[in-house]
Amino acid sequence: MAELTYRCPLQCTYCANPVELARYRAELDTAQWLRVLDQARALGVLQLHLTGGEPLLRPDLAQLVAHARTLGLYTNLVTSGVPLAAGRAGELAEAGLDHVQLSLQDTDPNRAAAVAGLAAHDRKLAAARQFTAAGLPLTVNAVLHRGNLPRLGALADQAVALGADRVELAHVQYYGWAWRNRAHLAPDTEQVRQAERDVAAARRRHGGRIEIVHVAADLHGGTVKPCMNGWGREQLAVAPNGDVLPCLAAAGLPGLTPPNAVTDGLAASWHDSPAFNRFRGTDWMSEPCRSCALRELDHGGCRCQAYQFTGDPAVTDPACRLSPHHHLVTAPAPAGSAAPVPRRFHRTPGE
Ligand code: SF4
Ligand code: FES
Repeated sequence: MAELTYRCPLQCTYCANPVELARYRAELDTAQWLRVLDQARALGVLQLHLTGGEPLLRPDLAQLVAHARTLGLYTNLVTSGVPLAAGRAGELAEAGLDHVQLSLQDTDPNRAAAVAGLAAHDRKLAAARQFTAAGLPLTVNAVLHRGNLPRLGALADQAVALGADRVELAHVQYYGWAWRNRAHLAPDTEQVRQAERDVAAARRRHGGRIEIVHVAADLHGGTVKPCMNGWGREQLAVAPNGDVLPCLAAAGLPGLTPPNAVTDGLAASWHDSPAFNRFRGTDWMSEPCRSCALRELDHGGCRCQAYQFTGDPAVTDPACRLSPHHHLVTAPAPAGSAAPVPRRFHRTPGE
């Protein structure tokens, strides 16, 4: 995952970028990113997700895509679509882009604007059409939360109408900005169950015309997700300043000093850095994970979620019903949701 920039025209309340955005004003230049891609391929990387912030704000995006293509990398652009200038989709397709993942906040333009901090819905629909007209395979991605769950089915219908090949309906992951806005975003269990029924209905409605992926809410079932398929096992993220991280949210973990792709190199970051080795394998686990039969399958869940709920990234993910902290997840109201309704935080570069 190459986070080319944290700059973005939107200010979503569940943004996955770090809360301390001001720390990341510096960005690698084109030559540095090209070297990062060379290093990634040499390390064995096969898939490149170009993301942000908004990667379309980088004027060198097509150059990076073209270089990735010469290296044989599969390239996926993760974008809001908002700054897509006329002709840019064709330019990216010609450069060799393989796939586009475009986000929609809602099907209701006003509600979408309330989440994104900008009225951009029509521009997103126009961008989707420009991408499909350029022949690019399209996934529509919608982050699900309490405010848009009533329109889950409509989001799937919208993706079909846009000619998408795939729609990804993914419940909010509560780190960073989303953690701050949990009181506004978190659904209750009945909404989560209704979402499962709505996904099933959308699959029946659209048959094989579109792949409908549902990333279930992971705080309502008593089990954990195998986050990142295990820390430092399959994936790495490079932040705009070159910091290398095992997952997008890891920069917020205490005591984790990220290695850097420019100064340390990607191979040394992956193989040798304390940050990547900290939660690799099972030796770091404490009980109940340490003696659990599932530890090699779910890897003890998510380190960032464990930290957000307990302040300790090394404990069992409290989403697990066996965790001694599971009551923090099942508490009736999220922390900070007491009346009056807390402020809604839109991401801002000054924070
Ligand atoms: Fe997974 Fe740990 Fe829970 Fe076992 S105790 S199910 S390994 S999170
Ligand atoms: Fe960081 Fe799960 S998001 S380990």
